[in-house]
Amino acid sequence: MWEEGATFAASCMAMVEKAAPVDKNTPLLSVRDLLVRFKLRDGLSAALSRGPTYLKAVDEVSFDIGRGEVLGLVGESGSGKTTIGKAILRLYEPQSGSIVVNGVDITRMGDRALKRYRRDLQMVFQDPLSSLNPRHTVRTSLRTPLLLHKICPPSEVEKRIDEALTRSGLSPVFKARYPHELSGGQLQRVAIARALTMSPGLVVADEPVSKLDVSVRAQILNLFKDLQTKFGISIIFITHDLRVARYLCHRIGVMYFGKLVEIAPVEELFTAPKHPYTKALLGTVGAEGESLDGAQVAGEAFNPAADTTGCRYYARCPMRVDRCKTAHPPMETIKSGHDIACYEWRRS
Ligand SMILES: Nc1ncnc2c1ncn2[C@@H]1O[C@H](COP(=O)(O)OP(=O)(O)OP(=O)(O)O)[C@@H](O)[C@H]1O
Ligand SMILES: [Mg+2]
Repeated sequence: MWEEGATFAASCMAMVEKAAPVDKNTPLLSVRDLLVRFKLRDGLSAALSRGPTYLKAVDEVSFDIGRGEVLGLVGESGSGKTTIGKAILRLYEPQSGSIVVNGVDITRMGDRALKRYRRDLQMVFQDPLSSLNPRHTVRTSLRTPLLLHKICPPSEVEKRIDEALTRSGLSPVFKARYPHELSGGQLQRVAIARALTMSPGLVVADEPVSKLDVSVRAQILNLFKDLQTKFGISIIFITHDLRVARYLCHRIGVMYFGKLVEIAPVEELFTAPKHPYTKALLGTVGAEGESLDGAQVAGEAFNPAADTTGCRYYARCPMRVDRCKTAHPPMETIKSGHDIACYEWRRS
């Protein structure tokens, strides 16, 4: 049986007996003050004479995702989008902050509970080949996690695989194929089907269409749209392509060198952006919103290894004032669902 919708909530609740009762209006996921830093390579660290030895890839980021919501994360290369996705899956350990799912802070979870949590949260990557074993048939790739996590009785595994493939737009005959026998679009469908077999409540999709031919991109995007509308799955959709984000997402978060600078309902972001960086980004790619690949916002870029407490957009910002240099503006809610980190947004 395909367990739609409530599976994720149910298993998270089962994990921690004392968890607060789940209110359907509370967010599925709340990220608060998330900090993920990486040690700089020795060479880079030495080159910065008095510089820090760490790079803050994600710096005190906070946001919520509602049930059945698609949240887009956009920003230039290196802004920390993938790091956020991996931290939510605890593939990266955050240094501080919390990631709360249905009242349970998963940053404090032990290994056993974490294993259970991970099956409810799936990630789909840019390159599906990297997550599929080239020597395994599609059947084996989909069957292994089902058996490992004891998702269903062994007698039902085959049926579950067939259902997931069908929902991903592939006939069950693909079970016998190897990855090298599939096109890029078919491979991504297999990766999505594998995620679906686990009945996830949240899928983190990291640039899942950017490597596909233009002709199959729309099909895969529509598949994600179906997952959200038919099965109520929440999705974090990481993309460079603002058109894609506008088509698929309910809200969009804009990242700039580890900081979330603005998050807003999709049409509000496109028609009335408030952060100077969001405006510059939309200006760079045109009113209709295009790919951020190669997009260049004017001015000197922030040095991610610099140990600054000020706003990371300071050097490029046309609206900067003195205090932006010393303290990064906190996130401020300016409207329901619309948060912004800028002292001067009212001037815009
Ligand atoms: N495992 C790691 N070790 C060291 N530094 C890392 C690691 N992963 C990411 N980084 C650094 O953290 C910063 C954020 O990287 P991240 O991959 O999250 O960016 P991104 O927004 O996903 O970029 P892209 O759009 O190119 O995929 C970058 O400066 C990157 O070099
Ligand atoms: Mg990335």
